[in-house]
Amino acid sequence: MDLVVALFVLGISWITILILAGRIQSSQRRLPPGPFSFPIFGALFSLQHPLHHYFAKISKKYGPIVYLKIGMVPYVVVNNNEMAVQVLKVHDLEFASRPAEEFFRIVSHNWNDLILAPISDKWKRMRKICSTHLFSNSMLNASSGFRESEMKNTVKTIFQQSGTTINLQEVFGKLLSNSLCLVLFSERRPEVVDLIRNITSLSLQLNIGALLPALDGLDLHGVYKKLNKELIPRLKLLLEDQIDKHRRRKDEAGDRFIPGDFTDVLISLNDKDNLSNLSILALLSDMVIAGMQTSLVTLEWTMAELINHPRVMSKAQDEIDSVVGRARVVHESDLPSLPYIEAIFKESLRLHPAAPLGVPHMNPKPVKLGGYTIPSGCKVLVNIWAIGRDPARWSDPEAFQPERFLGSSISPNGQNLDFLPFSSGRRVCVGYPLAMRSIPFFMASLLQAFDWSPANPGGIDMEERSRSMTMKLKADLLVNASMRLECQNIL
Ligand code: HEM
Repeated sequence: MDLVVALFVLGISWITILILAGRIQSSQRRLPPGPFSFPIFGALFSLQHPLHHYFAKISKKYGPIVYLKIGMVPYVVVNNNEMAVQVLKVHDLEFASRPAEEFFRIVSHNWNDLILAPISDKWKRMRKICSTHLFSNSMLNASSGFRESEMKNTVKTIFQQSGTTINLQEVFGKLLSNSLCLVLFSERRPEVVDLIRNITSLSLQLNIGALLPALDGLDLHGVYKKLNKELIPRLKLLLEDQIDKHRRRKDEAGDRFIPGDFTDVLISLNDKDNLSNLSILALLSDMVIAGMQTSLVTLEWTMAELINHPRVMSKAQDEIDSVVGRARVVHESDLPSLPYIEAIFKESLRLHPAAPLGVPHMNPKPVKLGGYTIPSGCKVLVNIWAIGRDPARWSDPEAFQPERFLGSSISPNGQNLDFLPFSSGRRVCVGYPLAMRSIPFFMASLLQAFDWSPANPGGIDMEERSRSMTMKLKADLLVNASMRLECQNIL
């Protein structure tokens, strides 16, 4: 009998231990909370657009890390500073890959680019080439003439339209496209920019395969076929033609050759850094993919805020008048003496980060995060928009108050994770030095040259477009402009 009791007690103890061990293990493997995921569809039908608003809203219920499936694709979204620190600093390397999706594979020219390629030695080398050769101070100084001459053309165009309603999106689209292409190719190539816009906008088109990977190979909506058969070959032709032209010019110049644009720099790299034609082409197309719409929407939101805040606009104009005056135009080299312009730019980036959910990261292996286990292969998004408006970190977070940045050392360079419009960590925006020069320069030039008012007396409508790759204004930016500068200074 004693033996039976002893065996019974032993059995119960063993079962208890197993249950407890199982519980501990499953709590260690716990997924972050999130909305209910149905089989196949996941949480697809509970999504609301814009997604960064929706994620911020549901994080009030589920906490700062949210897990959900969209279709069958697992997502993790982090919505506050502490979790962003975990993803972009503490576990930076583990989360620094990109989702290996078919759309990304095609657009990255088979992972030969920088934005979408997984972390590798080649990716590291390409980043280094960008920071030391393309976005160095000396290269940016050398290319400032392109931006200044395009800005002059833009001021002339606006001047010619003064007295009428001006659609600023159209004007800025040309300014950004021309100035970026001049920096890349020493030529205006609007057709390259248009083609790349068509390519990236396909990612918004219905594509069931992207939600249900088992069906991806069927290309049910013809997205990959359109890319592979039509758009990418056209882009390759245009860019190969540019690269060939640059190589010929280099050969003709021989020892007298001085690189004048990014393509020149990329074809002149020494043996150690030498890139294949395909990688050069992929990197050039990356510059347009990552640099064009982001800069464009940032300039649009900044002007929209300024037009809705005439006090801020006139304070900025006073600063420009006192530092630069009206006898000459603003130059990029004036920017370090224009702290209020910088503060306006930062405040605009805080409220309207061009990529509100960044670019998706991916963890090839499981990672422990905030007491949860993130399974391998998740699409990891950082809610940059919500972090910039977090009431725990920013006073009066919804208000446009550039003064908050005056005398403050907070920079968007990725060091401060309350404010990360360019993200942070290994994947931080590599074009940051160009963006920090070109956009405030365009903005200062526009404020120096004109007084601005909304075409609609109700002011600029600040509503966001709900589905978009970058954060966009929903309505056209319709304005009136009247000249402030003496005409002879610009014409
Ligand atoms: C206001 C302007 C801009 C903003 C707000 C912005 C923001 C960002 C963000 C959020 C990322 C994703 C970082 C991550 O994955 O964590 C990124 C990546 C990148 N950006 Fe920018 N960007 C801007 C302008 C530019 C410009 C002008 C260029 C180049 C011409 C550029 C080139 C890139 C590239 C190549 C990457 C990919 C880096 C990598 O994956 O290693 N960006 N940017």
